[in-house]
Amino acid sequence: MEQVITQPSVRSQHLWWQNGVIYQIYPRSFQDSNGDGVGDLQGIISRLDYLQWLGVDCVWLSPIFSSPMADFGYDISDYQGIHPLFGTMEDFDELLGEVHNRGMKLLLDLVPNHTSDQHPWFLESRSSKDNPKRDWYIWHDGKADGGLPNNWLSVFGGHAWEWDEVTQQYYYHAFLKEQPDLNWRNPQVQEAMMNVMRFWLDKGIDGFRVDVMWHMIKDEQLRDNPPFPGSTFNPNDLIYDHYTPVYSTDQPEVHEIVRMMRAVTDEYDDRVLIGEIYLPIHKLVTYYGQDNNGAHLPFNFQLLTLPWDAPAIAMAIDEYEGALPAEGWPNWVLGNHDKPRISSRVGREQAKVAALLLLTLRGTPTIYYGDEIGMRDVAIPMNEIVDPQGLNMPDLNISRDPARTPMQWSGEINAGFSTHKPWLRLPFNSGRVNVEKQKGDMYSKLHFYRKLISLRKEHAALNVGSYRPVYADQQLISYVRESGNERFLIVLNLSHRPAYFKPRQESYSGTVILGTEIERIGMQVEDIITLGGDEGLLIGLS
Ligand code: NOJ
Repeated sequence: MEQVITQPSVRSQHLWWQNGVIYQIYPRSFQDSNGDGVGDLQGIISRLDYLQWLGVDCVWLSPIFSSPMADFGYDISDYQGIHPLFGTMEDFDELLGEVHNRGMKLLLDLVPNHTSDQHPWFLESRSSKDNPKRDWYIWHDGKADGGLPNNWLSVFGGHAWEWDEVTQQYYYHAFLKEQPDLNWRNPQVQEAMMNVMRFWLDKGIDGFRVDVMWHMIKDEQLRDNPPFPGSTFNPNDLIYDHYTPVYSTDQPEVHEIVRMMRAVTDEYDDRVLIGEIYLPIHKLVTYYGQDNNGAHLPFNFQLLTLPWDAPAIAMAIDEYEGALPAEGWPNWVLGNHDKPRISSRVGREQAKVAALLLLTLRGTPTIYYGDEIGMRDVAIPMNEIVDPQGLNMPDLNISRDPARTPMQWSGEINAGFSTHKPWLRLPFNSGRVNVEKQKGDMYSKLHFYRKLISLRKEHAALNVGSYRPVYADQQLISYVRESGNERFLIVLNLSHRPAYFKPRQESYSGTVILGTEIERIGMQVEDIITLGGDEGLLIGLS
């Protein structure tokens, strides 16, 4: 008798972090449960049913640890403690259990590049030159003429070296002076941070998003960074972007550190290591590591950083696909707590096209909280700015507060986020733009996101299927996703004007499965497809 070999489904060969959707929560702004105007862990627990309804598979929390909050939690004073603003360790354990009960995963933020200046490690390190922890941070004498050790600048503006009166040396901080950089060349630092990872992995979290992974090791000789070519360079400006950080970031030795972090992650089953890395594609992909022993997912921020321009985006997708190592799994990000929201960058209508792109590209998508209801950057009056990046460089209008405002849940007071005045203001239209309203409106962005997420789950082609670019011009991009006998064509008009999809070599026919305009669903398309401005179509090919 002939033996029937059942082929495992394509999807079951993939891991949860490959076929799932990640959702980023900025905990200060998701849901307040105790009426202090700041979101917390109990608040998040109370909204997990919503996330399950939306269909996301994994929640990543920005930092919830003990912190003086100079950089809203990215300045950690105890890696194993929960900040009382967010709750207690019991609350955390409950949250983890509730996430897992719903079949979802939980990721935490790991901030290994720097600590708070209030962390006991730094307090010891700065106490004297011969303290055993002195070398845990990057201390250096000034130059013979009393000048700074080199020209490195802080990402948040100004010099990256802070003078310490007591011990008469400078320490390095890539971000605020309240965030001294750890010295990752020191094996004790490495060991201490690996133990932090184990502490949380032992608790059962499903992995980490690692903060500023490409910053972790700096040039041993501390050479000066060169000015950015072509910038209107003025050495007195002290603006980070005016230099190319070739010596302060992305050093070859960083890969050994990433490999170590991956090895710790791999001590546990089924966990994921994600790296925050803002680098051009050819450098980004090196963070997968040799033989894929680096980060599982070096965050791919192309859609966040590129101009919203069809040729540029089409090229970036293809370049990224082409640059991935053989086993490297792709990923895409459309928004985060550091960048303007997608709806503000590309416009309300175009944001739906962007969602269609994010959720139909090959690779793990990360959704930023609130983007699913089209939340926009909120105009924060100057005297209400709290983000240090905004406060330090007031003339540049680069505060990150506008993208970190409270989740808009309902038309209730403070949009259902809190009974107290929230830590950042809400937009004037939150009574109209909120989850509750959109849940009741089948035409809403929220339903569009939910439908897209469920289609991804339903169709392996959209999820783990192959990607093939089809046609792009000044307005459009298009591609086919395919798995087994399922084939989908995605056509996206990235412009506001009508456009024509007219591939030169092939012709396509099929049925619209989902479109930015709901009325398109079920329509047959063939050959040249006419799209309205800001329109995107997902077509099941016949
Ligand atoms: C990247 C984080 O995303 C950002 O919010 C933070 O300010 C810096 N790293 C410093 O930790």
